[in-house]
Amino acid sequence: MTDRILLVGATGFLGGAVAARLAHRQPIALVRSSSDRSVLPTGMEVREGDLAWPLPLDGVDTVVYCASMGFGHVPGLIRQLEAEHKVSRAVFVSTTAVFTSLPSASRAVRLEAEAAVQSSALDWTILRPTMIYGTARDRNISRLLRFVKRWPVFPLCGNALWQPIYIDDLADAVITALDSPATARKAYNLAGAEPLTFADLVRTAASVVGRRIVLLPVPLEAAVLAARLSRVVTAEQIRRLAEDKAFGITDTARDFNFAPRSFADGVRLEAESLGLAPSFRKR
Ligand SMILES: NC(=O)c1ccc[n+]([C@@H]2O[C@H](COP(=O)([O-])OP(=O)(O)OC[C@H]3O[C@@H](n4cnc5c(N)ncnc54)[C@H](OP(=O)(O)O)[C@@H]3O)[C@@H](O)[C@H]2O)c1
Repeated sequence: MTDRILLVGATGFLGGAVAARLAHRQPIALVRSSSDRSVLPTGMEVREGDLAWPLPLDGVDTVVYCASMGFGHVPGLIRQLEAEHKVSRAVFVSTTAVFTSLPSASRAVRLEAEAAVQSSALDWTILRPTMIYGTARDRNISRLLRFVKRWPVFPLCGNALWQPIYIDDLADAVITALDSPATARKAYNLAGAEPLTFADLVRTAASVVGRRIVLLPVPLEAAVLAARLSRVVTAEQIRRLAEDKAFGITDTARDFNFAPRSFADGVRLEAESLGLAPSFRKR
């Protein structure tokens, strides 16, 4: 067990779920002056700060980092942690996007951040989730569920493998990894139970909202052009659609009993929580 934890990114989608699980251990949430503190568990201690500046670490011996590692703040944070010698244990949430073979503006920054963590003297653990889904706060499957509930046709761009991870499985894994000495100085991929093709992912999402969907194949370059013109999504996001995103989780399962649920189970829960499942009745 660890002592005083600073939770970075506590007001975010993942950080909020981690905050709920850590609440009984009296962690400190790092918040910006602009952060929405209403999403934090009642009574959680907060310290104002920003990753662009040295963190307020008085009394803190553990950092759980659920903000992006793609903004360039991590090497400076590691220098601070090493200089102050207050923190010994740190869990960093990175992303499987570091494995992309596509040109990506943030990949080099993320790799530099991971390298800074890995070369530090901390008892670090890096967790690399795939796409996270499961509540209205996700920016992916909640939109897909609303789309397939409303429209009978879905444009299918490529048919790559996906392996999204359900928010509760990931938040539980962050806590288990934090408390598992076997995870120190190691990096892990965290993904759903098994990969599925994008077509199966869309069909599964449609089925849990009680719809049948017609998939309309769209050439990749046409979708990239539409993305550039519409600016609703970026060309990089469209190209990522067509890239396989399946990741082995054998080490993760072995070292800290990671046993994530299937996409079918997770997306059913999400559809129910959004009131989109066919049996859902508003009281
Ligand atoms: N969401 C996904 O599908 C996904 C997939 C793979 C990996 N990940 C990784 O998982 C982690 C969490 O993602 P998420 O979706 O939960 O992110 P999120 O919802 O965007 O939350 C980001 C958090 O970081 C905080 N933050 C951002 N800039 C900050 C700064 N300069 N100083 C202090 N705090 C700052 C935000 O505070 P405010 O509330 O003030 O904005 C917020 O609490 C990230 O490392 C992300 O790369 C996410």
